[in-house]
Amino acid sequence: MDLVVRNARLMTCDPALFGLGLIDRGAFAVANGFVAWVGPDGERPKGATELDAGGRLVTPGLVDCHTHAIFAGDRANEFGMRAEGKTYLEIAAAGGGIAATLGPTRAASDEELVALASARLDRALGGGTTTIEIKSGYDLTVAGELRLLRCIARLAEQRKQRVVPTLLAHLVPPERADTRDAYVRELCEQLVPEVAKQRLAEAVDVYCDQGAFTLDETRAILGAARAAGLAVKGHVGQFSDLGAAELLAELGALSVDHVEQIGDAAMAALAHAGTVAVMLPGACVQLRLPVPPVDKLRKAGVSLAIASDLNPGSSHCETLGVQMWLATTHFGMSVDETWLGVTRRAAKALGRDGGTLTAGAPADFVVWHCDDPAHVPYRYGSNLVDRVYVAGHHLT
Ligand code: NIG
Ligand code: FE
Repeated sequence: MDLVVRNARLMTCDPALFGLGLIDRGAFAVANGFVAWVGPDGERPKGATELDAGGRLVTPGLVDCHTHAIFAGDRANEFGMRAEGKTYLEIAAAGGGIAATLGPTRAASDEELVALASARLDRALGGGTTTIEIKSGYDLTVAGELRLLRCIARLAEQRKQRVVPTLLAHLVPPERADTRDAYVRELCEQLVPEVAKQRLAEAVDVYCDQGAFTLDETRAILGAARAAGLAVKGHVGQFSDLGAAELLAELGALSVDHVEQIGDAAMAALAHAGTVAVMLPGACVQLRLPVPPVDKLRKAGVSLAIASDLNPGSSHCETLGVQMWLATTHFGMSVDETWLGVTRRAAKALGRDGGTLTAGAPADFVVWHCDDPAHVPYRYGSNLVDRVYVAGHHLT
């Protein structure tokens, strides 16, 4: 044993236990970066270094399953315009939005992009995020998207946090508006196979919505992804329901994300496919969109995760605590659902087993300055994180 964490209010998120799988006066042992034993404090293995949690909450490390953490520049001007009443789609139609981040990102060097993202990952870690998904999507040329994914691979190597890379087909870039079909073919025939060959991403995400990719284009790109052996997921129904949730369920997608707009048949299909619905409350609230049908999704049996959607436009947010607050207060998710949404269910959205403190799981965990799980969303805006561990190593 390398470490025993003891005297904890332990949130295991063990699917075999009720709710959050809380153990009062719990303990767990870590060996070789994994959880080796979990149980009551009195039965803990002896002889290892001990960390006394003093009765405080210890949870699995948080999993942020949807971010666009690699970009240069910012769009604070758009934030100001929205505050004064302009909508996201109006700003995008006038040349802002995703397209406005392409220039600064294309102009930045690899070193600059890695440094910018690394600072964001530091702040995420400070908020308890031990696993973070990062999407490409702010270059949109074949060579440029490969470059962004190589930068993400560098982050994965350099950082102690776990980084999960995704290729994002975000938009048809403005310079390809007149050669749209050829652009989609390039994605399918060049970019996706190359990403798979170089193992630069685990999944392909397509933004299927008004102003982005159509349902037919989405089908083509995700079909190419599946053919190349990559997992699939999508930005779906943020503004309009184009039918992509059904398509993603049919393809056995890991997740559908946003889903402010989604129909009953799609919800049943997602539940049947085991596809996770990722709630992005920060983006939803900031863009003043209607709330996703959380109650219907829950009743249909769809697993719900919660993520930051960290990006320069709709949600420049690096931590999950405030998302948990919005999920409970604005989306009507329970405290338990909210915790599962940033742990076990978020891991499922990434096709990973983690997000629990159970024997065999990665020893990624957070010690909090509170003992009640409700305090994290309840005391929003305060960072209650005390210590963060990844693979049994104390990082912050
Ligand atoms: O998830 N909706 C599409 N993509 C992002 C926004 C990206 C941007 O505005 O730069 C989202 O909200
Ligand atoms: Fe997003």
